[in-house]
Parts: sequence; structure tokens; C-alpha cells
Amino acid sequence: MSSYIITGGSKLEGTVSISGSKNASLPIIAASILNGGTSKLYNVPNIHDTEITLKILKILGCKTDKKNGKIIIDSSKMNCHEIPDDLMRQMRSSVVLAGAILARFKNVKFSYPGGCDIGARPIDLHLKALKKLGISIEKEAGYVKCKCDEIKGNEIHLDFPSVGATENIILASALAKGETILSNAAMEPEIEDLQNFLNKMGAKVQGAGTNIIRIIGVKSLKEVNYNIMPDRIETGTFLCMAAATSGNLEVKNANSNHIIPVIKKLEEAGCRFNIKKNTILIESSKRLKAVDIKTMPYPGFPTDMQSIFSSMLSTAKGTSIVVENIFENRYRYINELKRMGAKIDIEGRIAIIKGVKKLSNAQVEATDLRGGAALVLAGLVAKGKTKVSNIEYILRGYQDLDQKLNKIGAKIKKQY
Ligand code: EPZ
Repeated sequence: MSSYIITGGSKLEGTVSISGSKNASLPIIAASILNGGTSKLYNVPNIHDTEITLKILKILGCKTDKKNGKIIIDSSKMNCHEIPDDLMRQMRSSVVLAGAILARFKNVKFSYPGGCDIGARPIDLHLKALKKLGISIEKEAGYVKCKCDEIKGNEIHLDFPSVGATENIILASALAKGETILSNAAMEPEIEDLQNFLNKMGAKVQGAGTNIIRIIGVKSLKEVNYNIMPDRIETGTFLCMAAATSGNLEVKNANSNHIIPVIKKLEEAGCRFNIKKNTILIESSKRLKAVDIKTMPYPGFPTDMQSIFSSMLSTAKGTSIVVENIFENRYRYINELKRMGAKIDIEGRIAIIKGVKKLSNAQVEATDLRGGAALVLAGLVAKGKTKVSNIEYILRGYQDLDQKLNKIGAKIKKQY
């Protein structure tokens, strides 16, 4: 396992450019198999999770190629409908491939995605919805087998606005017979990006970004070129790192509309913003003020920003209350932060953060993707050398994090 060695205490200053969105790329790469031809994707982040998704496509018989910043996927020769167990275990979000494979082949087999570092993460809502589309579901020996002669559009109501279930329903319905009306759908911007990609291939999806999505099935889809949206969680991560180090940062290729709750909370903590079309300028004050956050489905405060924001609040003035409403096990990084002198008590889904004047360097371990980024933030703040190990978690979702940070004044190096 590799580590980051961070020498803390520097302000972050200068310009950083945001990469393409991990959570938009994964469902869009899955959707690319629906045209049975070629899809050219631009601005796909070069991270572990997109690598795994492309690897799965290759095993399913697709040709994938990377050239000059674009990913070319040719699914014309795809001939396998089983998602490999080992890769499914590495990345549970590959479950969204199920909807796409079903739409194309009316048949898919995948191993039941286990839980991950942040919670049990069942797929009951996915399977319930696929059943409503006329798909038979069989669970056997840890595998899920789904098949049907024809996917039939239907009315589906989600008990909870799950991002993955919403994406799977859209993918499974794009080539279905008739119309699907999905209510209590997830409204995340990544769903809109998926809709825009599908419609560029000739699909008829509307309403993404609202809680009612309509999908009129079409007979076939055409080849496409598409540019993936910027990563809103990477954007929020850099804004919090600048705020925690009393820095001033220009964040380029970012869409501020996608992270309004994060910007509002940073303003409440004392930061000032100048927002332009694709650029966010943040100026942060001497010491931040404590604020309270509650994670909610979009457009609420994103759960993926909870650990990074909490790490930033660990040196704010006053006591902050954090409530994690989405995942039941997303505080694992806090024990590591406490090694650095943070004062945080956890009561179930609530974290009570008593801001301390300073953090001290330590050896800490990343526990998951966003928890890992939270420890990098703490290492940037703490004086002295901090070692963050298990950075493979971080490489899953951040492209060139250390290089980008070193360009804006940090001192961070990778140790193998
Ligand atoms: C997506 O995960 C993101 N992943 C997650 O980001 C993000 O945290 C999450 O949405 C919420 O915003 C990707 O897009 C690849 P959900 P997903 O289905 O789709 C429960 C990151 O750090 N649920 O909206 O798996 C579930 O257990 C990752 O980039 C069921 O109970 O999230 C959770 O508590 C982490 N049954 C809640 O709903 C189901 O069938 C939200 O899950 C499905 C979900």
C-alpha cells in the first residue's frame, strides 16, 4: 500500500483545474454499450474507478482505447453478459452496468455487491424497480441473474431517491417498449449528465434534475461524442483545502451551481467567493467559524463532502454539529483525525466537533475515498510531517491529487 508524506503549514494559493466527474463517468461509460457501436468520451478522469469500469467492458467483449484525452469504446462485438465477480467486488457501483446490459441483451448475471467501507449499501431498490420493468430476478449462490424477453416501460416510485437505482432504471428503460415514469428519482447533477449523454445518442429521457423522470423507449441509439461534466466533489475538496489553510485559490473548469450548499456553508464559516462561469475564486479568513451540516440527497449537502468538511471544521472556532443522514458508517476517518489532536465525539449519526487551534502531525490510515481526502486536508493543516497510508482509496476518485496540490503551494509526495 502506498502513502502520502505531507509537510503541513503552507497556505494553498494559485490556480487548480478540476478533472471530469467520477460519478458521471461511471454510468456514462455503462451507457455507451447501448448503441452497439462507437462512443467517444472526453474529460473522463484518469482514476482507478474508471480504469476498472473499462476493464469490465473489455471482459464483456468491448474494445476500449485511450487517445489524446479521449476514451473510445466500441461495443459492437460485445458478447458476454456476466460482470466478473472480482471486479464487481472491487467496485460496487458497477451494478449500474446491469441496467445497460439488460437493455441490450435482456439478460445479465452479476455477483451480489457486498457492502463497502461506508455502509451496507443494499441494492433492493434496484431489483424492485427492474422487476417493475418486467425483468425476472433470480438470486443464487451469491449471484443475481436477471432476464426477460422484453423490457416493458412502467410507473416506478423509489422509496428513497437512490442515485444508483435511478441510473439503472434510466439505462434499462432507454430501449424498452413504451414509457417509464420514475418518481422520487435522485436529482444529482450526474443524472442530468447521463440524460444528456443518452439523448445525444437519440434516447428520449426527460426530467433529470427533478424528482420525476420520463423515459420513452426507442428502438436503437446512434454513435456519439460526449464531454463529461466537471467533478463537483473534487471542486468542493479543493475549496475546503484552501479554506482550512487560510489560502486563496482559483478553481477552474468547475461548475459552482453543482455545489451551492457547500459554497453557502463555506461562506457561513467566513470564506469569500468570486464566482465566474467556470471558475470559482475563494479567499479564506484567518480562522474559520464553526458551522453545522446535515447530509441530504441533492440539492442538500452532499454526503461525499461530509468527511472533508468535518476535517476542515476540526480547527474552526467553536463547536460544529454534523449529521450524516445517507450512509451509516461514514465516520471511520474520525479516529484517525483524533490521532492528530482533533476533538470529535460521535453519537450514532451525529459528530460533535470541538474546534482546536492546531492539529499535530501523525501517521494515519485512509479508510475510504473521501475519508482519505479528509486526512490529506488535515495533513496540509498540521505542522510537521504527516504520513497518510492506504492512499489507494484516494486514487480511486482523485486524479493527480498530489501533483495538483504541489502546484498550489502544498508539500506532498507519494511513498511506495
Ligand atoms: C452514489 O452511490 C455515489 N457513487 C456515491 O459516491 C454517493 O455517496 C451516493 O450516490 C449518494 O450521493 C457513484 O455515483 C458511483 P445511493 P450510490 O444508491 O448510487 C441506500 C463517492 O464517494 N440504498 O444513492 O450507491 C444506500 O445504502 C461515492 O464518490 C438502499 O437502501 O448511492 C444509502 O444509504 C461514495 N437500497 C442510500 O440509499 C438501494 O437499493 C444512498 O445510496 C440503494 C441504495
